[in-house]
Amino acid sequence: MLSRTFLTQAKRSFHSSRVASIKVGDRIPDVEVQGSSPAETHKTGELLASKKRAILFGVPGAFTPGCTKDHLPGYIKKADELKAKGVDFIGCVAVNDAFVMTAWGKSVGNEGEVTLLADPAGELAKALDLNFDATGVLGNHRYKRFAAVVEGGVVKQLFVEPDNTGLNVSLAENVIKQL
Ligand code: BEZ
Repeated sequence: MLSRTFLTQAKRSFHSSRVASIKVGDRIPDVEVQGSSPAETHKTGELLASKKRAILFGVPGAFTPGCTKDHLPGYIKKADELKAKGVDFIGCVAVNDAFVMTAWGKSVGNEGEVTLLADPAGELAKALDLNFDATGVLGNHRYKRFAAVVEGGVVKQLFVEPDNTGLNVSLAENVIKQL
């Protein structure tokens, strides 16, 4: 029979090994992501700590319909308005490789308004605990659709789509109303 001490310890280690979702007040963890090619790497914590007011949004996938027609173009269109509200960096992250992210940006006419960040193995997604199992549709775990307002590397506001993929609270037009 398992002893009470063993069960208590097992329970504790189970809980301590769980990743807690990022929340308002937390610092963005330092995870390596890629820029325009795999050779261009950024540490997310350092990158965002260097910005006064950044928006980091996550999408389920480059080239998926909602991300391509609404989510990314919305931030490109609103980039100047966001800038006027003190936003000095807009980053978009997805579990895709850097080549796909770059091609996706070009396909929607991104001219540097949004910095596309590739998280090919989903390491940042896991560290933020903002991933969900999209295996059935996209083949692996992907980002829940979200947007975070980050000041000096610390999350000030967080908007996560409750159904993981919807296009509502995390859209540029809705985030801008909260700034
Ligand atoms: C989208 O349209 O953005 C989407 C499609 C399938 C899975 C997740 C997202």
